[in-house]
Amino acid sequence: MATTIRRAVIPAAGLGSRLLPLTKATPKEMLPVGDKPVIEHTVRELVASGITDITIVVSGGKSLIQDHFRPNPALVQQLRSDGKAAFADAVEEVAELARRGHITYLDQHGPYGNGTPVLNAARSFGDEPVLVLWPDDVFVAEVPRAQQLIRAHEQTGCPVLALLPIDPSEAGRYGVPQVKEDLGGGLLRINALVEKPDPEQAPSSYAAIGGYVITPGIVDELRELTRRWYEHRTGEIYLTDAVNAYAATRAAYGQVIQGRWYDTGNPADYLVAQFAHALAHPDYGPRLRRLAHDLDPSS
Ligand code: G1P
Repeated sequence: MATTIRRAVIPAAGLGSRLLPLTKATPKEMLPVGDKPVIEHTVRELVASGITDITIVVSGGKSLIQDHFRPNPALVQQLRSDGKAAFADAVEEVAELARRGHITYLDQHGPYGNGTPVLNAARSFGDEPVLVLWPDDVFVAEVPRAQQLIRAHEQTGCPVLALLPIDPSEAGRYGVPQVKEDLGGGLLRINALVEKPDPEQAPSSYAAIGGYVITPGIVDELRELTRRWYEHRTGEIYLTDAVNAYAATRAAYGQVIQGRWYDTGNPADYLVAQFAHALAHPDYGPRLRRLAHDLDPSS
């Protein structure tokens, strides 16, 4: 599939603190959701949306991510000679996915915050728009979320962020946009994006949900935020703040995404994501439903 966006960045250098001690030795990106590590869901979404150049920004202790996507011919050969062809195929399929997405890795350096990995990766962006997806969000959608964002970018030529409606009381957990105009089809022109506002001050009842189309103008804003950070050395570099600064004077959009979103970055939502994926699995789903019924016959 040809698209106007071919690059993507997945920031994967975070500590996963909300999931400690689970994430002490295992990167949060490698925790399973259904029968795949969570980051594989993100890579699959990108490849299915036509992305052919994926940069995963990592930090020390994340080598399991590389190990997961790296080909392992010795393991495949062993499995084949043991007559375990289906497992061999499954291992090869993950390496093939990484090959199609041309995954490369970059070490994160610079101030803490989710804008820094984007700025680190930006050296290779040139003038191209780039998708940024968090590795701890999983979307189940007929049209992948990444593709919905690409379409909105093709329509507008501007930065776009993935949005979902939320209960206003939850605004303090998210980046919340101020909506300037509703263009129909879920496309909203925005003129501000506020990181985790007090619910009473929230500018709308939409949340940014971890998918962004970034343009060179947003990268310039990140560069400026980082320059200022080095003067004062306080706070974090948020992608939200760069989008907010950009949207104050230039056109930026939100796209309300069709589909179901699972956050896996905290224990409660992670369990929900795992449970939902297991229930939807053609092999494990029926067994789990029976178990749930046996444990609680009223369910
Ligand atoms: C990040 C973003 C926030 C966004 C959220 C979605 O926050 O900074 O704007 O709404 O992801 O998951 P985090 O959850 O990493 O604190």
